[in-house]
Amino acid sequence: MHAGPRSIGNSGISVQPVGLGGMPLSITGRPAQAQAYEVVKAFVDHGGDFIDTANVYCLDDADIGHNERLFAAALRRLGRQAAVTVATKGGLRRPRGQWIADGRPAFLRASCEQSLTALGVDVITLYQLHAVDAAVGLAESLGELRRLQQEGKILHIGLSNITPEQLEQALAITPIVSVQNRCSVLDQTDFRNGLVALCAARGVAFIAHSAVGGHQGHVRLRQQALMKALAGQYQATPYQLALAWLLHKGKHILPIPGATKTQSILDSLKATAIALTADEVAAMDRIG
Ligand SMILES: NC(=O)c1ccc[n+]([C@@H]2O[C@H](COP(=O)([O-])OP(=O)(O)OC[C@H]3O[C@@H](n4cnc5c(N)ncnc54)[C@H](OP(=O)(O)O)[C@@H]3O)[C@@H](O)[C@H]2O)c1
Repeated sequence: MHAGPRSIGNSGISVQPVGLGGMPLSITGRPAQAQAYEVVKAFVDHGGDFIDTANVYCLDDADIGHNERLFAAALRRLGRQAAVTVATKGGLRRPRGQWIADGRPAFLRASCEQSLTALGVDVITLYQLHAVDAAVGLAESLGELRRLQQEGKILHIGLSNITPEQLEQALAITPIVSVQNRCSVLDQTDFRNGLVALCAARGVAFIAHSAVGGHQGHVRLRQQALMKALAGQYQATPYQLALAWLLHKGKHILPIPGATKTQSILDSLKATAIALTADEVAAMDRIG
């Protein structure tokens, strides 16, 4: 039941349940370009069709668009541009490698134009506001995304790193097809605060980032006792179990594990084959 394609909210777009998160391919510690291309090739060759990127997946402000250019080039080489949905984001800056919110309308417009060029497309299928800039306010940032949508530069609008209250506020302004927040068996905040359920009720996809624990947290996942035990039982990895748990928690949930190694993304894609029992899901609910 959980293994079939999933909708990106009310966008009318269906994708395979496990996507690829692009961040580790472009930030500090990133692999050589040839290895990054291998990760993308392995993903699409095994049926992957949803990629999450952002203009700020790069080293710093001088490197903006690195991850978008990487995916555009990799998909072009593979001839798979039309077969893969690429979602990107705007609303952050990277001065000296920091992550700083900037939701000013003029900045979002300039970022969107840069992303169109970096991705080599006329319209961005899913454009996500990377974070709410408290100094600007959600309504003002969303107003600009709406204008970009009306101009045909963006097909669908998504949000990232938001609260349930902010989603309600946004839905009163404009249709939102997705929310992308940190969520894993190790961090179940958005189950507890009602955001995951709110997304389901309002026809919004919940894109789980850091779905196996995040850039550093994934090591903790590997060491977690129940995850290790279940992995042994299923002859799978704790990563596959963590992703399977998310897929069982709602048909609107789309995990986007990151990978710098082909073996990591190939392992993650196998999560769709795991059918957990209700008792196992409940036991994992108690981890985070
Ligand atoms: N919206 C936001 O603010 C935000 C924030 C953070 C992340 N994200 C998105 O979420 C994506 C994922 O986040 P993330 O990269 O921080 O963390 P992650 O998905 O938790 O992955 C972290 C690391 O875990 C390893 N890994 C993942 N799956 C594995 C598997 N099946 N087997 C073995 N190792 C595995 C990978 O290591 P290797 O590198 O060794 O392959 C990967 O680099 C990002 O790429 C980005 O698209 C969004």
